[in-house]
Amino acid sequence: MAQPRIRNRAFTSVESASQAPTVALNGFTRRFGDNVVIDGLDLTIAPGEFVALLGASGSGKTTLLRTLAGLDPIGGQDVTTPDARAVVFQDARLLPWKKVWRNVALGLSGGDVRTRAEAALKEVGLGHRLDAWPSTLSGGEAQRTALARALVREPALLLLDEPFAALDALTRLKMHDLVLSLWREHKPSVLLVTHDVDEAIALADRVLVLDKGKIAVEERIALERPRQPDARFHATRRRLLATWASTPPHHRPLPRRRWSPSRPARSCSDPMSAFRPAPKLHKLADFVGALGNLLDQTRDEDLILAEGGRLLSGLITRDDWLPDAYAQPDPTRYQQYLLHCDSRERFSVVSFVWGPGQATPVHDHTVWGLVGVLRGAELSQRFARRGEAFAAVGPVHRLARGEVEAVSPTVGDVHQVTNAFDNRVSISIHVYGANIGAVERSTYDAAGRPKRFVSGYANTTLPNLWDRSKPVLAEVDS
Ligand SMILES: [Fe+2]
Repeated sequence: MAQPRIRNRAFTSVESASQAPTVALNGFTRRFGDNVVIDGLDLTIAPGEFVALLGASGSGKTTLLRTLAGLDPIGGQDVTTPDARAVVFQDARLLPWKKVWRNVALGLSGGDVRTRAEAALKEVGLGHRLDAWPSTLSGGEAQRTALARALVREPALLLLDEPFAALDALTRLKMHDLVLSLWREHKPSVLLVTHDVDEAIALADRVLVLDKGKIAVEERIALERPRQPDARFHATRRRLLATWASTPPHHRPLPRRRWSPSRPARSCSDPMSAFRPAPKLHKLADFVGALGNLLDQTRDEDLILAEGGRLLSGLITRDDWLPDAYAQPDPTRYQQYLLHCDSRERFSVVSFVWGPGQATPVHDHTVWGLVGVLRGAELSQRFARRGEAFAAVGPVHRLARGEVEAVSPTVGDVHQVTNAFDNRVSISIHVYGANIGAVERSTYDAAGRPKRFVSGYANTTLPNLWDRSKPVLAEVDS
């Protein structure tokens, strides 16, 4: 039987390491059944190098981390990792029945175990919590304990699996400083798996983007530390996001399936199938996937509006993907049809259908939004408070077909929007930073009195974005 070609080296400190890489994978492949998760991956990590690995869910990054941690089999492939390695996961994974120092000392041997655990805990700022129970720790303290537990093992390779994802923003920034200072002090090679592009740029020497089990992007970060969110930082972020957001998982090639006319017809009893999906709905599915990727990576509203606006621009360059059922005006009032809502309600996409001459009341926005005109045009008039009442400010803004504008409470939008035409229908695609059907907002009357409202949806069934057979059927049909 062929022997695995794994080569382990035991590094006790970076000084003892040669220039040989700490990690080396040559053509590494990992598959589950027919699904190739890692596809012929070549990767080296130098001694003391800090690498961040970005990638959408399902891109293979967790599988790669587990491989480097020795948690997954390598099946005889050419993989080099050091013996001394440690992992910090998103949850601290502390044993609740052991005090903090004993959690750190877990698995250590020798007479100085307590001393070593104490030293590591002091290094992460928890010298005063040695005898605490894990249940009394804050989220940040628990992750510091997990870092101490990794550190005490003097790893040559430190693997960080989204370790700050569950922390609040301020604690996360403090943890970034801590990790950098520990890395400078101990100089392990680090692989940080993260969804947060800012975190990757703030910390790493090199950022990799994994897509479909391959490295799609590699960027060296030459910015001096500590890294400030300056123009060069933003330029790096835009470069990485532009590549990443434009390669949603839906762009994977469609499997070519042989279609036979004798195949039984699809049942339409499922409410998801109430409307026969337009073959071009995959444009909307791609948009939804790309926006979800973007929101995985950043919570920065400016960036979401800029990159999301670019994605929405792409979606509205053509209008042939919108099924007729979601383009129907109503003679009494404008209609809002839900096209998609993110499962975590981080965003919703609606088609806003204006009958001739229809207008909204003056209203505000309590979440970010993007508006792109698909057909016709809209007129928008901004309002600002003048004493008790609201008064129109600035000129009426015309948003023409193909144009996108942003709204948000930080932009400060109180406005009234009207169909630019009194003899035809206009349609705009709106994207909101929440389930807009569950968000309270206000309209304002002429005296400036607010009235709370929640947008409703005109539809009770959703377009089916996920049926991959439709483009194939369409080809056969045509
Ligand atoms: Fe609005």
